[in-house]
Amino acid sequence: MNYLENTEDIQKIIKASQEVKERAYCPYSKFKVGAALLCEDGTIITGCNVENASYGLSLCAERNVMTKAVSEGHQRFRAIAVSSDLQKSFIVPCGACRQTMVEFGTDWNVYMTKPDATYKVMKTGQLLPLHFELDNENE
Ligand code: THU
Repeated sequence: MNYLENTEDIQKIIKASQEVKERAYCPYSKFKVGAALLCEDGTIITGCNVENASYGLSLCAERNVMTKAVSEGHQRFRAIAVSSDLQKSFIVPCGACRQTMVEFGTDWNVYMTKPDATYKVMKTGQLLPLHFELDNENE
C-alpha cells in the first residue's frame, strides 16, 4: 500500500520534529535530533534522542518515536520527518533506525531535513534494500 501525505502534513511533521529536537537529551554528543511520525490515522507522535553515560545505550530520535507510537497503539505509519542542527546536510537515519523502520513497512516516507525545512525524501525500503526479515518459508 502506498500512503500519500499532503504538503500540509509534511510541513506539520517537519515543524514538529524541529520543535521536539529542542528536548533532546544529548549531554555526550551535544547532537540534537528530533523526529515526528505521521500515523495512518493522522496522529502525529514526536520523539528526540536520549543518550546515556553508557554510550551504547543511547537511543536515536527515530527509534524513540517509533516505540512511543507503538506503545500508544499505532503501528501503521505514513511518514517520518527527522531534524537536526546540521546546516549543510540532510540528517539521515542510522542503520539501526532503518531496520526498525522497515519493520513497519517498506513503502512509507522518510523526510530527511535541514533547519531551513528543505528535505530529501525516500521510502523506508529504499533506505535499506535487502533488509533482514523473517520470511515464513513454511507458510
Ligand atoms: N542520532 C539520532 O537520534 N538520529 C540520527 O539519525 C543520527 C544520530 C543521535 C544518536 C546520538 O544521540 C547522537 O545523535 C549522535 O550520534
